[in-house]
Amino acid sequence: MSTSKSTVLNFLSKYKMVLIHVAALASGLLLLIQYLTGSLNAYPIQEITFRTGKTALILLMISLSMTPLKTITGWSWTATVRKWAGLYAFFYAFSHMLVFVWWDYGFAWQYILPQIFSKRYLLVGASAIVILFLMAFTSYQWWVKRLGRGWTYLHRFVYVAGVLVVLHYAWVQKGDLFTLQGNVLQPFLFALYFILLMVLRIPFIRRKIVQSRRARARTNQPQNGPVVVRRTRPSSGAQGE
Ligand code: HEM
Repeated sequence: MSTSKSTVLNFLSKYKMVLIHVAALASGLLLLIQYLTGSLNAYPIQEITFRTGKTALILLMISLSMTPLKTITGWSWTATVRKWAGLYAFFYAFSHMLVFVWWDYGFAWQYILPQIFSKRYLLVGASAIVILFLMAFTSYQWWVKRLGRGWTYLHRFVYVAGVLVVLHYAWVQKGDLFTLQGNVLQPFLFALYFILLMVLRIPFIRRKIVQSRRARARTNQPQNGPVVVRRTRPSSGAQGE
């Protein structure tokens, strides 16, 4: 590995937590500052709804990208990013929903519930938020121990949330993902990316990628060179499996 590449990896590995928090909170902080200084557009509720929704979607995709990234690179710190990006995705999705039910409708459930059940984009969005809530609520070690294998099964629902969120986005755009009508380019690209992530998770493909990564690592090792014993700290894990 070249020196500059390993410097970047060491930096990412060392400061990952700071980077995750700064990157995830920056969008919300900017939105808050713009709102307080009155520099949002003429329809602040709509703009805040769009931006919190988009941030939640991007963070969810980042979280879902971490396991395939680990398959390809072997970096073990991806698990921390996966957890925190998922928690922040829930935070933004929850704020997004609050803008709708609180700011827009003042918690008038007699209007909110019929809206949700009559519009498909709201129905899939609401279902996604229930799943994201369950993921966030059970993301702590206590739940991992308490639920055992059930925890793994429960957390697979995040893929269902991914599908629902992409549909929500596509249907908000008044387009149709299946017939590609309307303003669906961005949702379509998100859908393609999501499908790619799912393909990379197929056990057979995953095994092939890991095997070729290991084979490459073996051929990159110096032939007949001195035997180097590398000591790795489990937490730094830039090279780990
Ligand atoms: C109860 C749950 C939810 C409600 C009530 C809701 C509501 C809305 C509303 C009202 C809009 C704007 C529609 C328009 O003005 O045409 C919207 C857009 C959007 N929502 Fe949601 N949503 C929910 C869940 C989610 C979740 C879980 C995510 C992502 C994780 C999400 C991501 C988005 C995105 C990306 C947009 C479009 C933003 C854009 O066009 O730039 N929503 N949602």
